[in-house]
Amino acid sequence: VHKFVGTRGAQSLYAGSDQIHQEETSSNFGQVFPKEPASFLKEIASKRLVFLGEIHSIPPIVALQKAVQEKMAEESSLLHVVFEHFSFEMQPLLDDYQDGKINFDQMVERYRQIGTENHNLEPYRSLLEHAKADKKKIRLHAGFLSRSFSRMLMKEGETVALEAASEWLPPNPILEGHEFHYNLFESLISGRFLYHSDGGPPSDRFRGMYKAQLLKDVAMANKVNQLLENSSDESEKILVVAGNGHLLHYCGVPERVLSANPYLANQTSLVVSHPSNANLDDDSSIMRDVTDSFGPKGTNPADYLYLYKDDNDQEQIDAAVRAETKNAYDKVGESAHFQGNMKKAKVMMDSLGYTQEQFDIAGPDAYNYQGVGNPHLHAGIQPGDFVLDVGSGLGVDSFIAEEYAGKDGQVIGIDISNKEVKHSQQRAIDRGSSTCFAAADMES
Ligand SMILES: C[S@@+](CC[C@H](N)C(=O)[O-])C[C@H]1O[C@@H](n2cnc3c(N)ncnc32)[C@H](O)[C@@H]1O
Repeated sequence: VHKFVGTRGAQSLYAGSDQIHQEETSSNFGQVFPKEPASFLKEIASKRLVFLGEIHSIPPIVALQKAVQEKMAEESSLLHVVFEHFSFEMQPLLDDYQDGKINFDQMVERYRQIGTENHNLEPYRSLLEHAKADKKKIRLHAGFLSRSFSRMLMKEGETVALEAASEWLPPNPILEGHEFHYNLFESLISGRFLYHSDGGPPSDRFRGMYKAQLLKDVAMANKVNQLLENSSDESEKILVVAGNGHLLHYCGVPERVLSANPYLANQTSLVVSHPSNANLDDDSSIMRDVTDSFGPKGTNPADYLYLYKDDNDQEQIDAAVRAETKNAYDKVGESAHFQGNMKKAKVMMDSLGYTQEQFDIAGPDAYNYQGVGNPHLHAGIQPGDFVLDVGSGLGVDSFIAEEYAGKDGQVIGIDISNKEVKHSQQRAIDRGSSTCFAAADMES
């Protein structure tokens, strides 16, 4: 079940990197499109540049992306589809896939091995398979800067990260945004409500992280701008698929594309996805949800909202989160055998209140401690206790617990990541430990 709602006010707003542009446009605010969205798709496909904002890996949203991709391909000589999910150096992977050298599952396997992005690609199977089948009309593009550059920016600063990523950036990139964009970004991270004054002003806590967001926005906009520059043929179109957070209010990526290509303002469309609690058969219920979620007419979160409802919505989000968590920690498990930094481990464990004795018990496993908190401050494990370590990671707390539970006790660690479990099992054997580890989901 889904509906499209117009949310463009009479004043259409898009934020240029140095100013907010306001243009007189026709308002579509409050226009709810009919159940069968053929007219809507037609309107979208008529544009040269379409931004589809998503919440990652949600099947009804992918269904919309596929419908738009099909329609835009029909209406163009060549459709470029730019994905956030693939970082630039993964372009050969997408090329091999589209050229039929590898199939979808092989592509996903290589994607996991590269491991920088870690999206759950399974929900995108039908969308990507369609692009592969129609490869004469559709070109898939990796559209994002690898997350490793964001980490570099946070750790080593802007100059180092800009230099390292220069291949993917415009000349003299500027990592500056305007206050409305920061306000929006902060609200998405902190959960503060942006659209009425009770939400209060943004805090400054996320200014550092905001730079990393700008770095990604600049890189993705650069990719789109290059495609526009190289597509002399006006009948070529571009579809950009990225998280809502990079597109909402035309901030982030769209503002940078439109300030480089102002002539495209009337040939662009922005659709943002919104999971709705409304009764989608009742227009007034829809509009209540829209104004509750995005404020009254005039805030212009997008040209259109894609409202979707799915009874399994929460379940699907949970499953996607679990899959991403598992992937991410599998990476941790794979590299756990590399010698880590004991000094850093000591500083971290000291700061969480681990004693010297506990650090010594952890021994050579201490550098694999992942530092969430110190359960031993509260657990008071006694000889003979049975201990279940939930989310045992690489086993450090389990090994400490085993020392206190003694030979009459038993420790079992469970973790969702098979690779972490494999590592800790092997460590238990090497240490002559009685602790057992098992792969399991703590929530099921
Ligand atoms: C930050 S690590 C902490 C690991 C360990 N306790 C430590 O402090 O070193 C969190 C762990 O929780 C695991 N985890 C996350 N969600 C889980 C779930 N639903 N079921 C089981 N383990 C889960 C992750 O795989 C990861 O190993």
